[in-house]
Amino acid sequence: MAQTRIAVVVGSLRRESFNRKLAHALTTLAPPEFELFQPRIDDLPLYDQDDDDDNAESVKRLKAEITGAQGLIFVTPEYNRSLPGLLKNAIDHASRPYGKSVWKLKPAGVLGISVGAQGTCMAQQHLRNVLAYLDVPTLGQPEVFLHAREGVMDAGGKLSDSTRQFLEGWMTQYVAFVKRHLASPGL
Ligand SMILES: Cc1cc2nc3c(=O)[nH]c(=O)nc-3n(C[C@H](O)[C@H](O)[C@H](O)COP(=O)(O)O)c2cc1C
Repeated sequence: MAQTRIAVVVGSLRRESFNRKLAHALTTLAPPEFELFQPRIDDLPLYDQDDDDDNAESVKRLKAEITGAQGLIFVTPEYNRSLPGLLKNAIDHASRPYGKSVWKLKPAGVLGISVGAQGTCMAQQHLRNVLAYLDVPTLGQPEVFLHAREGVMDAGGKLSDSTRQFLEGWMTQYVAFVKRHLASPGL
């Protein structure tokens, strides 16, 4: 069976990042025909429109990886009630030059975990706004606003039973969403 490649873009560089642990956990929940991979975004230069026709190797690599993916998952922390600059920088790079965005029409899921009780909801809303402009359809429900506290995942990133069950439900909806879009591109 052909693999459906899903780029999982993580918005944190922190060594013990909750969001990276969440991204790793998602790979254990995906069905066998879905291959989740994490494109590297920590070595991208700061976006500069002057370089649109002369991309750094790291930018070319990101664009090629996103082009080769059939779907996207964004796992983002919340920084000052918005998405982190790291993630926005990666999105901006792969959205340019104008009219050549590689994100366009790739079905996307949006999740996040933060130490705040609101669980990245503001960051996710800002991210969804950016994605809407880029013509990236996003799964609406269930929303995943995880609060990093005892009982959600352990220090090694192992999900609790209730978190796992919740994310299994999310994955079921996400997989169906991606399959619908692949069956009817532009849906
Ligand atoms: C610059 C900065 C701003 C932050 N702003 C928020 C915020 O607006 N809301 C929130 O819930 N947590 C905020 N936090 C705390 C993050 O939720 C916390 O650092 C979390 O561990 C980041 O995700 P990570 O573990 O994947 O790196 C902020 C952290 C930093 C470093």
